[in-house]
Amino acid sequence: MADYHEQQPTVLVLDFGAQYAQLIARRVREARVYSEIVPHDISAEEIERRQPAALILSGGPASVYAPGAPRLDARIYDLGVPILGFCYGMQLMALDLGGDVPHTDVGEYGFAELVVMEPECRLLEGVPETSQCWMSHRDSVGAPPAGFLVTARTAITPVASMEDPGRKLYATQFHPEVAHTEFGQQIIRTFLHDIAGIPAVWTMVNIIDETVTMVREQVGTDRVICALSGGVDSSVVAALLHRAIGDQLTCVFVDHGLLRLNEAEQVVRTFRDQFHIDLVHVEAEERYLSLLAGVTDPEQKRRIIGEEFWQVFFEEATTLEGVKWLAQGTLYPDVIESGNKTAAKIKSHHNLIPFPEGVHFDLIEPLKALFKDEVRAVGSELGLPDEIVQRQPFPGPGLAVRIIGDITHEKLETLRLADAIIREEIGAWDTQRSVWQYFGVLPDIRSVGVMGDERTYGHPIIIRAVASADAMTADWARLPHDLLAKMSNRIINEVEGINRVAYDITSKPPGTIEWE
Ligand code: XMP
Repeated sequence: MADYHEQQPTVLVLDFGAQYAQLIARRVREARVYSEIVPHDISAEEIERRQPAALILSGGPASVYAPGAPRLDARIYDLGVPILGFCYGMQLMALDLGGDVPHTDVGEYGFAELVVMEPECRLLEGVPETSQCWMSHRDSVGAPPAGFLVTARTAITPVASMEDPGRKLYATQFHPEVAHTEFGQQIIRTFLHDIAGIPAVWTMVNIIDETVTMVREQVGTDRVICALSGGVDSSVVAALLHRAIGDQLTCVFVDHGLLRLNEAEQVVRTFRDQFHIDLVHVEAEERYLSLLAGVTDPEQKRRIIGEEFWQVFFEEATTLEGVKWLAQGTLYPDVIESGNKTAAKIKSHHNLIPFPEGVHFDLIEPLKALFKDEVRAVGSELGLPDEIVQRQPFPGPGLAVRIIGDITHEKLETLRLADAIIREEIGAWDTQRSVWQYFGVLPDIRSVGVMGDERTYGHPIIIRAVASADAMTADWARLPHDLLAKMSNRIINEVEGINRVAYDITSKPPGTIEWE
């Protein structure tokens, strides 16, 4: 796939190994400027070749004096490209250009009051004399390199910001990319638009137009196949490819029968009826259920479902004539692997697809430059419904990991009905979308109850609802008691075989979001 930077003014974020590089790239894109993350040791020649509109040096976990501390090719400062360094990036700039970065024993972590000392400075233009910023450092710049003006300080850090407009070099010790820095995004915009002169042209319409052009160039008149799951990423891939190449695209929807209520119908309605995409709907519930019969181990369930998916998919794919490409919903965060190593690496996804003997398609990954929020925005712009674009994370193995014990058609039907009530009720209450994920779980136990004059011996439904930012950690959602009561009543009245409802009050850790 051709790179975006060939058409877009691009900001390169040099990754010094902090978790902040991705955040910086996202903030730059929020300012409507395309950005990419590159390893910190990128050469000056490579940068010249790529002709970025500006560079940002990220923060980093290391001390500039630590053995093996990441450095950059110092010729980069002389390229004439505007550079903005944050935290570690600022210390490196100071050190490389002859400033003083003394070791200090006093670090500065968290909120600090930023005091602007030079109202006439360029980077902090419009920032009030005092405001809040976010610091996270031990070493700091004692004296800036010759030619630099110190533009701001905090109580602990004498050089909180410095600049040499003549050489187009700017830096802050604080982190403008984090939301805690009050005027952070304004500072980033000032750098991008006013200092580097980059127009705000990275819009959703632009993203779509450019991707469409690239896909057309790449694919020509070949046929493309796409595995559609109903999830956000594969749905946006399908809609985008359809915009680009129309009926050269065929989507295969492997319906394993483990989806939520009405979900399969919605996929078919959206893609076949609304978009008029050539859609192969493989109704494979029976096939999956027979493979899963009696299987209770969660990992075995996942393995069976994953393997069967590719089996079914390739059975269909290989019946289609002249398919050369397989479209995949790889996103930008999948492509960058920052990890503990300082260099951003490209992961190979090509190995992940278990092509059967003698079968091969080239991969096309039209979302691989985009962050998740951009993918959602693209999806909406292309006319995908909110139920798909704003969908909660839903495991690939579907309801199989929400039914504890073996899976049967009957249990699936029960869970689907209860889960639909939970989604309807919490969805109506959570207008601000404060809950990250909510769903029902059907455990493999029964308990005694009484309904009317009858003794019952039925299953419970467990309601799981969590608040989270990224699914790495989560807290159980503090749902109002009335809402819990309403769900409990409805589930017991409307779903046969359920005589008890429990609410899971476990955070992650120690629990996980899913039950299996
Ligand atoms: P856990 O349960 O580990 O889940 O706290 C974290 C996030 O990952 C989702 N999840 C899965 N997604 N296949 C998936 O595609 C899976 O097997 C799977 N298991 C968990 C889960 O819904 C949550 O958003």
